Amino acid sequence: MKMFESVIDQIKKFKKIAVVTGAGISQESGIPTFRGKGGLWRNYDAMKLATIDAFYDNPKLVWEWYNERRKNIFQAQPNLGHKAITELEKYAEVTILTQNIDGLHQKSGSSKVLELHGSIVKIKCSVCDYKEEILTEIFELPPHCKCGNIFRPDVVWFGESLPQDVWQNAILFSSQCDLMIIVGTSLVVSPANTLPIYAKQNNAILIEINPESTEMSEGMDVVIRNTSAEVLPKLVSLFKN
Ligand code: APR
Repeated sequence: MKMFESVIDQIKKFKKIAVVTGAGISQESGIPTFRGKGGLWRNYDAMKLATIDAFYDNPKLVWEWYNERRKNIFQAQPNLGHKAITELEKYAEVTILTQNIDGLHQKSGSSKVLELHGSIVKIKCSVCDYKEEILTEIFELPPHCKCGNIFRPDVVWFGESLPQDVWQNAILFSSQCDLMIIVGTSLVVSPANTLPIYAKQNNAILIEINPESTEMSEGMDVVIRNTSAEVLPKLVSLFKN
């Protein structure tokens, strides 16, 4: 409790804030998480839908799943948690390092968002790498590139590496921040789950916001066992002078 009080007392001194987010921050926007209660993976076999082998094995099934998620995401609105992080930009330099592909941080008005796992609105050709953004549903599944090959979602699948430029920036910012807020992630997927380690190596303060404990809760300076939409507005209000 002492640590919690001392961090809260000095909250205004933090000027370079990294916010690592996962599916949990979008849960209150109606987008199911992967591993929590009612999580997406409960109904689907993850390995059948989010790997390059699964894609080549059954591109139509993978496209149908992403189309279903895209429909859900297009209807989703940023919640109080997203909006609080956007407001935090008034008081400090904020960089969001998100594992989410739903674009809700950008929709909320946050200006510096690194999408570690890609974006559901981006697609790329599976051969020539031509990229496109899609803002409506796709009906012909799988869609074809003008080179004749099929498009794939421009997201990072299990076993694939993250976009190098994005990952390098994520490490750089994690190593330079003085506060890292880790919200709505189970921290089970690497390399995103190494970002708190980079921050800690730079003596940053780590605050975890999650209704459940995670594998890294022990290493956090402050753990707030509640939802992001509940906690973030209150936390950000402490930065107001
Ligand atoms: N507020 C905050 N946290 C929440 C909320 C909420 N309202 N609801 C659930 N959570 C927490 C859960 O307790 C869980 O720890 O959010 C976390 C969600 O964990 P996951 O479903 O594993 O999502 P995430 O950590 O983002 O997964 C990482 O795995 O499947 C891949 O690429 C996918 O980006 C994803 C990655």
